[in-house]
Amino acid sequence: MNADESVHLEQLMFVDDPMEPNEPRVHAAWLPPEAFRSLGARRVLVHGDGLLVDTVLHEVSRACARYGGRVWHSPSWDVDVDLVFALRGADELPSSVVRAARSAGESALAEIGDGGSLGDEGFLLARDGDVTVVLADAPAGLLYGLFHVVRLCAAAFDPERPPERHRPALHRRMLDHWDNVAVHPVMGQVERGYAGGSIFWRDGRPCGDLARIREYGRLLAASGVNAISVNNVNVARTEALLLTDRLGDVAEIADVLRPYHIRVHLSVTFAAPVVLGGLSTADPLDEGVRAWWAATTRTVYDRIPDFGGYVVKADSEGQPGPFTYGRDHADGANMLAEALAPLGGVVHWRAFVYNHHQDWRDRSTDRARAAYDHFAPLDGRFRTNVVVQVKFGPVDFQTREPVSPVIAAMPATRIAVELQVTQEYTGQQRHVCHLGPWWSEVLRFAPWGPDGRAVADVAAGESGAGGGLVAVANVGDDLFWTGHPLAQANLYTFGRLAWDPRRDPTAVLDEWITLTFPPSATADPDLVRRTLHEIMDDSWRTYERYTAPLGVGFMVNPGDHYGPGVDGYEYTRWGTYHFADRDGVGVDRTRASGTGFTGQYPPYWAQVYESLETCPDELLLFFHHVPYGHVLHSGSTVIQHIYDTHFAGVEEVTAMRRRWRTLNGMIDPAVYERVAERLDEQVRCATEWRDQINTYFYRKSGMLDERGRDIY
Ligand code: GCU
Repeated sequence: MNADESVHLEQLMFVDDPMEPNEPRVHAAWLPPEAFRSLGARRVLVHGDGLLVDTVLHEVSRACARYGGRVWHSPSWDVDVDLVFALRGADELPSSVVRAARSAGESALAEIGDGGSLGDEGFLLARDGDVTVVLADAPAGLLYGLFHVVRLCAAAFDPERPPERHRPALHRRMLDHWDNVAVHPVMGQVERGYAGGSIFWRDGRPCGDLARIREYGRLLAASGVNAISVNNVNVARTEALLLTDRLGDVAEIADVLRPYHIRVHLSVTFAAPVVLGGLSTADPLDEGVRAWWAATTRTVYDRIPDFGGYVVKADSEGQPGPFTYGRDHADGANMLAEALAPLGGVVHWRAFVYNHHQDWRDRSTDRARAAYDHFAPLDGRFRTNVVVQVKFGPVDFQTREPVSPVIAAMPATRIAVELQVTQEYTGQQRHVCHLGPWWSEVLRFAPWGPDGRAVADVAAGESGAGGGLVAVANVGDDLFWTGHPLAQANLYTFGRLAWDPRRDPTAVLDEWITLTFPPSATADPDLVRRTLHEIMDDSWRTYERYTAPLGVGFMVNPGDHYGPGVDGYEYTRWGTYHFADRDGVGVDRTRASGTGFTGQYPPYWAQVYESLETCPDELLLFFHHVPYGHVLHSGSTVIQHIYDTHFAGVEEVTAMRRRWRTLNGMIDPAVYERVAERLDEQVRCATEWRDQINTYFYRKSGMLDERGRDIY
């Protein structure tokens, strides 16, 4: 590629309006201008009114200005068009072509059946002669329909395309930012953030780059996300003020995200009545406390009428909560829910509660049990606008864990499942680790046994009343949003799976590749697509291979959680142990001889996990303590499996790097360089993992590698 071509490429891959003259422009991620080429070359009519329809109009106008198309907004004269976006309930159109398109869409919808409803966010895409029509019942549907047309590119105009209706499976699709307003002395500006600073806050103040936040809103809307919380679940003094004195800062973000149909939520401290209100107590049953929350919440809604609600981490890792007053989590959550209910808000109350002052000598306490032990007995006691937000696994966002038994234990409670897009335990955006396949496994998991409902069904709830899907965001003020450019795919995939948890994650990745590296702006699109799939499709399993084995978890360096530290947590208070000794490794969580955790599952899985005969290999050490010579279902012994996977993992990472190098000159050089540099680090770190894990287990067990490879 010569210099001219690379300038041209940059124009296609970066956001077109630079923020500040001297600031580096931000990478356009999955919405490069080039992705709008097909839409932007058409004659488009947008019919309807309101804020979100204006957003559609703005997007279409921008694309048409760039690529030579034309756009009309509810014209009163006849126009010839290729594409129509129309609200079903909007006034009848004078244009006959558009009327025909709309009625074709209506008939297609009637044929699909099911009452023909598109809901608050759904849309229909159909063809009528030469016209593509997108219909929606509500403006948000048109917005999502627009981004669907962008994703489809030319296929949206294929005369043979059958009608399709799209409605999100999950009502709330939310990102939690663990962003601090003031820089935390240990955690920094963003807790577990690996992409620079926060896009919202800087050094105690709003960071002021509203154009960037708007761009973020666009990206999220195009992925399907519709809710965001703007501050860390660990709420310190400055962050607490967002609820009161600094509410204007939150409102400013809400104003910018509203045109993209994203509601803003806030993490609040349970102690707010004391630290902000000057009360002597935060007891949830105290009348004064309830009145304070009711009044404070009304003020929030006066300023942000579509405010989403509160996110609360209570009685967890040192955060205040109802236990101080002898109350339980239902008392605490219900008090906030009562304040929010008349205003249409929800409380996301996190179930991440465990004893973080455990004595490692105490074998009777099991952190994996904690969320269930605290929350399952409260089922049925939460108000309807409480969502209990449960981490997908019982411990803490590990590379491999079983699904949390809490998800199946609270049928009378709205449950949200929490994932971690930020790669705290999965390579911290220095490693390629595409998490789509892992989340897909979790969402498809059937907690009551193979014929029962899946995790995604619980999150969706009966008639859409579930708590939805939530994830900790991986975005910062980095040029590429996510530090590692390929980590953008995790963010995109989260939104798309939250919209439709049954989608094949590889197909979602393919979508992301096409949008981010548009074939029309790529020298060899097939090579780029193939190479990215080769690198990313299996990268989560590769990461699993060179890190902690067989579901045992952790083995990371304490504190920052990056890189190997096999015994890093073994004698600490955090409850994350592997119990390796000279004979064997793993945590006995059986009912027969261990902590009894297996008994928290419905009978099918309680049985499967309890027995060594049936426990899946990949979770063996999560549930059982076994000798190194134990033979897995795969036929290998535990020790040989550890050696083999760790050697294989590093080989795979080396191959990733080799493959990436074939893209030099094919894609935007800035993306190329950033990924290349991170792959060097991934090779280094994976090698370190391999050698430390293999050496550790060789020294413990004294058992040789059958293949005689280097172990130190
Ligand atoms: C993990 C993470 C913390 C975070 C916590 C949470 O333990 O390391 O930084 O605060 O999860 O989910 O609240």
